[in-house]
Amino acid sequence: MTEGNVTATGTRQNYILGIDTSCDDTGVGIVSLGADGGTQVRANRIWSQTVHAQYGGVMPELASREHVERIDDILQGALAEAGLKLGDLTAVAATSGPGLVGALLVGLMYGKGLAQALNVPFYAAHHLEGHIYAAASEAELERPYLALVVSGGHTHLFDVQHAGEYRLVGATRDDAAGEAFDKVARLAGLGYPGGPAISEAARRGDPTAVPFKEPLQGQKGFDFSFSGLKTAALLASRAGAKPDDLAASFERAAVSFLVKTTVRAAKALGRTTVVVSGGVAANQALRAAFAATDLRVVFPGQGLNTDNGAMIALAGAAAVRAGRAPSALAVGAEAYAPLANVEAQVD
Ligand code: KG4
Ligand code: ZN
Repeated sequence: MTEGNVTATGTRQNYILGIDTSCDDTGVGIVSLGADGGTQVRANRIWSQTVHAQYGGVMPELASREHVERIDDILQGALAEAGLKLGDLTAVAATSGPGLVGALLVGLMYGKGLAQALNVPFYAAHHLEGHIYAAASEAELERPYLALVVSGGHTHLFDVQHAGEYRLVGATRDDAAGEAFDKVARLAGLGYPGGPAISEAARRGDPTAVPFKEPLQGQKGFDFSFSGLKTAALLASRAGAKPDDLAASFERAAVSFLVKTTVRAAKALGRTTVVVSGGVAANQALRAAFAATDLRVVFPGQGLNTDNGAMIALAGAAAVRAGRAPSALAVGAEAYAPLANVEAQVD
């Protein structure tokens, strides 16, 4: 393992670079890891690709090409933001999955090459673990805790009892939460990405205007489902519901379902801390609803909810801190890579 740099006060400082190119954001972040094990985000640069807007969805090949074109500049921007030179970096982490395989490959290969050129360890990071570690910038996470990852591609609830062990206790049976926000925004003519557009419109709308039935009512487990809400939104829209009212009513229904299911799981498993991360964790109504529960709820800081490189740097920092062996440079990109690695035991 690298020794890190000696600071003016004599303590050793590690600087971990994190790269995420799993979808349509080119993210590069830098995190410092102090001798006391504390982490701090020093830089978080993101290039959100706009080329896809004209197609109404992400075009994988265009995403890969744009990552190639942007990644150098984004790295330089991150170094400048942190006031560091390439030679100051003591480890490099990059997302190896899950995600679009061509897009993943760009950041993964770039990260491996950089680590080799700098002669520092390389860590392949899991995208969802990165989302969870994004909350570590806000609070040191004491296990056990529940982790709700709500993004455009995932709605997963994990129980985390030990470092690096993830037990899946619930997942969506159809659409991801963010995907539902995006689709409802689209059918209401509110634009893309849908999450922020729905939140904005919801402020002007009446949350009681459109009645939504809670999904999976009466289920014993902790799964999620958003296709019913999406269909109800489509029918309400066709029946003439105002976009603002639809947004407000849908947001309230989706938030209530996410919070109720998570609270039930926390009670059943005896957990008092919940980490909520991923793009949908930026939603203010969701944050307010979780704050009103009696759980300790930890959210990522600003700029760390949606895909970014700093969260991957934080996952890398956790690996360095734990003394984990670096990844083999032969590690490949994986489009499908489940995070859960511990048997589920929920009755
Ligand atoms: O984590 P992320 O950047 O990408 C994935 O890994 O999928 O999440 C993107 C998702 C999009 O579906 C977007 O609509 C949603 O996060 N999102 C939000 C908000 N901001 C972003 N959803 C609800 N409310 C928001 N404020
Ligand atoms: Zn993500």
